[in-house]
Amino acid sequence: MYNAAEFARAHASLGLTTEIADTGVYERTVERFKQRGIALPTFGELADPSTIPAARIAPLAGLDRNEPDSRNLFRVHWFGGLDGSGPHEVPDYIELPPEMTGVEARILLAFGNRFPMIKAHKVQAAYACLVPRLVTGRFDPTVHRAVWPSTGNYARGGIAISRIMDCRGVAVLPEGMSKARFDWLEQWTLDPANDIIRTPGTESNVKEIYDTCNELEKDPEIAIINQFSEFSNHLGHYSITGPALERVYEHATSGDTGARLAAYVSASGSAGTLGAGDYLKDHHGSRIAAVEALECPTLLENGFGDHNIQGIGDKHVPLIHNVMNTDDVIAVSDRSTDALDALFNTAAGKAHLVDRVGLDPSLVDSLKHMGYSSSCNALAAIKLAKERGYGREDVIVTVATDGSELYDAERAEYLAHHHPDGYDSVAAASDFGRELEAGDTAKHLELTEAERRRVFNLGYFTWVEQQGTDFADFTARGHQGFWDGMRHFVADWDELIVEFNERTGTRADD
Ligand SMILES: Cc1ncc(COP(=O)(O)O)c(C=O)c1O
Repeated sequence: MYNAAEFARAHASLGLTTEIADTGVYERTVERFKQRGIALPTFGELADPSTIPAARIAPLAGLDRNEPDSRNLFRVHWFGGLDGSGPHEVPDYIELPPEMTGVEARILLAFGNRFPMIKAHKVQAAYACLVPRLVTGRFDPTVHRAVWPSTGNYARGGIAISRIMDCRGVAVLPEGMSKARFDWLEQWTLDPANDIIRTPGTESNVKEIYDTCNELEKDPEIAIINQFSEFSNHLGHYSITGPALERVYEHATSGDTGARLAAYVSASGSAGTLGAGDYLKDHHGSRIAAVEALECPTLLENGFGDHNIQGIGDKHVPLIHNVMNTDDVIAVSDRSTDALDALFNTAAGKAHLVDRVGLDPSLVDSLKHMGYSSSCNALAAIKLAKERGYGREDVIVTVATDGSELYDAERAEYLAHHHPDGYDSVAAASDFGRELEAGDTAKHLELTEAERRRVFNLGYFTWVEQQGTDFADFTARGHQGFWDGMRHFVADWDELIVEFNERTGTRADD
């Protein structure tokens, strides 16, 4: 039987700690940040940016949100505008109307392409994974090269964070990822020839990424910041994304006493974003639905395969996925997300949505802020609403991790291949009818205790057998006490961040 002491032991063993590991490293990090004048935001400030001192917000007015400037760290939250404005009172979000979804349930989708530097919320995960190391002397920016294994957006986030700390960052990602990701990396890495490592395969080839990282790690100057096993990724989303989405829900339902937050839906890559679901369940009792590609149905049926819903579904169960707290698994085909990308981003598609379906033109215009995994989330939310018979009082919250601007090259290829004579009104009507009106593109599995156990157990082969995770640490994750017991680290790290800023002389009080 596990008890609090056992969980605490597992936390420490899995890297969750507030103890300074190496005072020499800590002092050198302080010195580096002092020289560069870099201040670090706390988790609390990013969760509720209205608490960020005005002295930090004021300089952002004249600073492009996509510049590699450390002050942009204070924009790593959900409350920014596309034009860099903010923090606003509520994150930018849209509500998908019943004419579009075919369901009465209210589906709210928060936009992640407002995040700075990479136009995707994964920069938050990169920050959450690195900052506990910085303030506990476990990463030396003067010596270490930070390696960011991912399918793209997290690696870009990590490179952005590395660059503004003036430290070498290395992106490890599959060669088949989007052109926009590689173009961005070419611009931001200090030494593109060596700092962009392309591993074989596409989206779901994470084992190949781990193999490369295990090789790299033999070098003592390499620090692998692995989002799939770094619990601060989960905690960042629990404590930052969770409250931000709660604000969205409260805003959309203000004055509506009958509303209830029925479910949170999130496609899973590292499973970090799913952590927001744990927060929403703790505070609203909502369900948590994990989404993956039908072409790689790992959670659904231990399956494997390639797909094009970039950023998700990596043929394994991440260590930081709280599987035993997950209620539904939903699979969406990449045929559907490709089709919606065309529908949302072509003249004929938009005309269909406005003229035929009757959607508000400004809503249709904002659908461009949905990348593949975002429309995947929307389709999964619709499926869940249908399966569970949700009505108007039921609210589903989900996210758009990135926008369609990251997939322009892929869309051009898709259209050339599938619509060589042009994407016209017939194609738009057919895509709308098939993917949204009929909307039967997803497979849904309600997780029973036995199904949860199956998914949980599947992780054993990656983590214990393949990556050498301690057996007792692995199994501790099957108990909610393990997860509940780690929540305090956020406040503890925040104290260390405040102290760190004091040491670097960058503290700002209001
Ligand atoms: C576009 C996109 N969507 C979804 C995800 C999945 O998010 P998470 O890794 O937090 O599960 C990612 C992860 O990189 C992503 O890049």
